[in-house]
Amino acid sequence: MKRREVVPGIAWVGAEDWDRRLFDALIPLPDGTSYNAYLVSGRERTALIDTVDPTKADVLWNHLAGVERIDDLVIQHVEQDHSGLAAAVLERYPAARVLATPKAQGLIADHLGIPAERVTAVADGETVALGGKTLQFIHAPWVHWPETMLTYVPEDRLLFTCDLFGSHLATSGLLASEVDDLEASAKRYYAEIMMPFAKTIRGHLEKVRKLDVRTIAPSHGPIHDKPATILAAYERWAGGAPENQVVIPYTSMHGSTAKMVERLTDALVARGVAAIPFNMAVTDLGAYAIRLVDAATVVFATPTVLVGPHPNVVLAAALTAALRPKLRHAVVIGSYGWAGKAPETIQTLAAGLSAEWLPPVFARGAPTRETFDALERLAETIANKHAGLKA
Ligand code: FEO
Repeated sequence: MKRREVVPGIAWVGAEDWDRRLFDALIPLPDGTSYNAYLVSGRERTALIDTVDPTKADVLWNHLAGVERIDDLVIQHVEQDHSGLAAAVLERYPAARVLATPKAQGLIADHLGIPAERVTAVADGETVALGGKTLQFIHAPWVHWPETMLTYVPEDRLLFTCDLFGSHLATSGLLASEVDDLEASAKRYYAEIMMPFAKTIRGHLEKVRKLDVRTIAPSHGPIHDKPATILAAYERWAGGAPENQVVIPYTSMHGSTAKMVERLTDALVARGVAAIPFNMAVTDLGAYAIRLVDAATVVFATPTVLVGPHPNVVLAAALTAALRPKLRHAVVIGSYGWAGKAPETIQTLAAGLSAEWLPPVFARGAPTRETFDALERLAETIANKHAGLKA
């Protein structure tokens, strides 16, 4: 794909990655992704905002063909999908300055092999004049590393946001208004990467609101040419109350836990509670993460294998705790033969959740009438606790 103008003097010089299907050896990318870098050309200086994933080096070099000078290489975030080519850019443009937050200096040395003294630290609010274009740096830690920053171009009311407001979506559409159902991709991205930092993000949203931006240019996915849409979505996801939904990550080996999940799901739905089971043996972890954005309760459903919870549900518990969703309640259900301690193990694994743990329903052997009665009572308890939550 060729270099593409975003506004006069600012060009997209990124790479679409149509084939990538996994990020961090964990996160499914059903729609690929893009690595967005941007070239800002002023009258006196030229700045490159981020680079692209090293696997797409040729794409970046093609974009930069004919660009004789880069004066400022802005590293908004040190993760390698954006800064992995920083050292190579410096080899091609040895006079370029590297601009990054003070926190990034050490990370750049550790991860990219660029000595800290080669990096010019920029203060929060500091500006660099390019001639007709100004770069204003806004420190924005924890979206999603501690060193991250945003870069604002006031002349165009354009904000580069690196990972914030991104979406893992390879597309021929440069702008959000050219892409169908972008919100679904953006929500998946938020759930997988940004959700643990919801509180911090709420603070950043305040700052962004004050800028009255016209364009938000993230480092993954389309550029938001109508930023009100993504800002409103982030305010709901990061700040809204949980909804009347239960997510049920489960695995079943011989059918007992599956029967319990089915009964609990039916009992919840009969009481007006949305219940969404996820078979962790086959589910897309991103689809599960998306549901965690809004759910008020999680039910971990596990059989017992080798005297503990099934590893699929162990993964679900660890992932759920790591994503820090706004869950209010959690509970373990399942079955065992002779070792009944799986609920305590799951609770320990997910101890980071700020949720109230309800008493488990853990059956010895195949579920009985008493088991199903206990599940009905659990559904009643959850429905009562969800009273007043919107669907
Ligand atoms: Fe897209 Fe945190 O890198």
